[in-house]
Amino acid sequence: MPEDNLRIVLASRPDGRPKPENFRLEHVAVPAPSEGEVLLAIRYLSLDPYMRGRISAAKSYAASTEIGEVMTGGTVGEVVESRHPDFKPGDFALSHSGWQSHAVAAGSALRKLDPKAAPLTTALGVLGMPGFTAYAGLLTIGQPKPGETVVVAAASGPVGSAVGQIARIKGARAVGIAGGPEKCAYVRENFGFDAVIDHRDPDLAAKLAAACPNGIDVYFENVGGHVWDAVFPLFNMFARIPVCGLVAQYNASGDFPGPDRLPVLMRQVLSKSLMIRGFIQREFAEAQAPTFRREMAGWIAEGSVKYKEDIVEGLPNAPEAFIGLLEGRNFGKLVVKL
Ligand SMILES: NC(=O)c1ccc[n+]([C@@H]2O[C@H](COP(=O)([O-])OP(=O)(O)OC[C@H]3O[C@@H](n4cnc5c(N)ncnc54)[C@H](OP(=O)(O)O)[C@@H]3O)[C@@H](O)[C@H]2O)c1
Repeated sequence: MPEDNLRIVLASRPDGRPKPENFRLEHVAVPAPSEGEVLLAIRYLSLDPYMRGRISAAKSYAASTEIGEVMTGGTVGEVVESRHPDFKPGDFALSHSGWQSHAVAAGSALRKLDPKAAPLTTALGVLGMPGFTAYAGLLTIGQPKPGETVVVAAASGPVGSAVGQIARIKGARAVGIAGGPEKCAYVRENFGFDAVIDHRDPDLAAKLAAACPNGIDVYFENVGGHVWDAVFPLFNMFARIPVCGLVAQYNASGDFPGPDRLPVLMRQVLSKSLMIRGFIQREFAEAQAPTFRREMAGWIAEGSVKYKEDIVEGLPNAPEAFIGLLEGRNFGKLVVKL
């Protein structure tokens, strides 16, 4: 039985960009499982942009993490003690145990993972929540058709890379937007996007227009900000815009700078019959997750979907890695190995 549970709690709420002092490392006793529960030793922790919303006090689709509470997060754990009939020590399971080395979880809330079927980390990325977000958002809302143009930013990350590759499987052209030449080259060469534009390029708008000579039919919105400004003039009639994330503004505090562009947006929505639809992936989980896991595993096996992971070693490095994620310092699905 391990003696020490290492965990990271929210020490204070950030104003703007999070800082290391907003997080606190603690050592506490390892909890004991009750009937129906298991004790997990966490092997991998997923770091995701949504965590920025959780550490804010602003009302959102999920409750905020309280000060002093363990940071939330998806995890892969190894069972070290079981009081549930479906699990034995040595089994691996997907859980939502947060930023800590050990956790007790109800056996009924866990999904068992087979490390021989796929690397365990993929349950947090391409075969997990981010991959599912891309799949459900693109296919249900975006509905790409053969020959159409699909644009997605944060294209080297787990959501964006899957969006572009699924778009190509469906016969569409995939145009990615990413930060810096290294990420852009990777997205083109390894994920097979048809074109990739660097959003730090001062000519972003002109280069994006040149990369989309037939306009944009689907824009999978991951970032907002100046990328949206470049995309917005290029929409075709009946373009679909799944609004998945707005990472460029997660660290913003106070009012957004003017001018108010809502009237211009509404005129385009009307005159081009645009469909803008926000979503949180879990809306589609019950109906689509099993099909997603089967289809995505098949695409990975046949080589039509590839993925990239960015593995950081050690729980104490999680805060710095998370701060970097919001600024594009990750390169691929960000995972902490404990
Ligand atoms: N709706 C849902 O249910 C749901 C579920 C999962 C994820 N999401 C959203 O999906 C998006 C992508 O998530 P992910 O896990 O795949 O993250 P990710 O791509 O691994 O990381 C976020 C990326 O955003 C880019 N970025 C940050 N600031 C930017 C800015 N100012 N302008 C342009 N790009 C910027 C950076 O890439 P570059 O270096 O390329 O700029 C960074 O690497 C996020 O907005 C996330 O919140 C939504």
